[in-house]
Amino acid sequence: MQSWQSWIPLIPESASTFSWKVDALYFYLSGVTLFFSLLISATLIFFVIRYRRRTPYEIPRPIAGSHKLETLWTVIPFLIAMTMFGWGARLYFEQYKPPANAVEIYVVGKQWMWKLQHATGQREINELHVPVGRKIKLIMTSEDVIHDFFVPAFRTKADVVPGRYTTIWFEATKPGKYHLLCAEYCGMNHSGMTGSVYVMEPREFDNWLSGNAGNASPAAAGRELFQTLGCASCHGANGEGGRGPTLAGLLGRQTPLEGGQSIKADEAYIRESILNPQAKIVAGFPPIMPTFQGQVTEDQLVQLVAFIKSLSGGGATAPAGAAPASSPLPSSRASGSPTENVH
Ligand code: CUA
Repeated sequence: MQSWQSWIPLIPESASTFSWKVDALYFYLSGVTLFFSLLISATLIFFVIRYRRRTPYEIPRPIAGSHKLETLWTVIPFLIAMTMFGWGARLYFEQYKPPANAVEIYVVGKQWMWKLQHATGQREINELHVPVGRKIKLIMTSEDVIHDFFVPAFRTKADVVPGRYTTIWFEATKPGKYHLLCAEYCGMNHSGMTGSVYVMEPREFDNWLSGNAGNASPAAAGRELFQTLGCASCHGANGEGGRGPTLAGLLGRQTPLEGGQSIKADEAYIRESILNPQAKIVAGFPPIMPTFQGQVTEDQLVQLVAFIKSLSGGGATAPAGAAPASSPLPSSRASGSPTENVH
């Protein structure tokens, strides 16, 4: 795909399964725009000359209007606009619906840096290492204001919003180093909120991973937090439930709520339930959970979510330090070494 794009100026490199699809849509939009701009300009010039006033007292013939013509110039643009909508919507849903087997990476934006953590525990700042040819899912949130995670070479771009999780995915197709940018004005050093994405051959990536196993996995750190914050006293040490609802196997489960509604538990729901427990009460449980607003950082919330996710498979038997079940990466058990503080 590279050949026909490299000679067009201003088009960034193409390095994901998604990028040529975005480019194709972009060229279609440009093509349609160019075609009609030329058509209208040419017609305009032609009419100006052809129907110019030839004598000072000339009065044009009155025009009564034409339903046929009006229908035509309404229906044709409508159909063209719908192709743009349909095509764009399809691409949008493809990119914003991560596949189930994707490798998960947590992203926290803050003024003015990107903090990333792999499911196996490795932390990175303003750098992201990923293997080529593997689906990568980003679970992103912000500690302060709205940022925007943008990798032009992947055509991957999504707002990173405080108070919620944004998920997006990509699959890199070419090893190399690519720009990572913040694409939402977020204060004084917004323009400096940049980084690099390193796409590596799978074996090289595995080497990199094992050479950087300095941190507890988010799930293991979350397990520890779960104890220290006292969550276990109501939800059980392994999320098996008690005074509070069962957490094992919660993710993706349809959960009945007080008042007859139900919700499919996702990362955002877990996050909300930690910060604002009264927002959605699970049916059959009293609203006794205190809020943890202000007591946990975004990093810690990510860890708690990762821990609860790790309970999804077998529930009570999930070992501490295990990567979430969805991760095909080998879990590096690097407990004992102190967690690097990146705040
Ligand atoms: Cu962060 Cu702009």
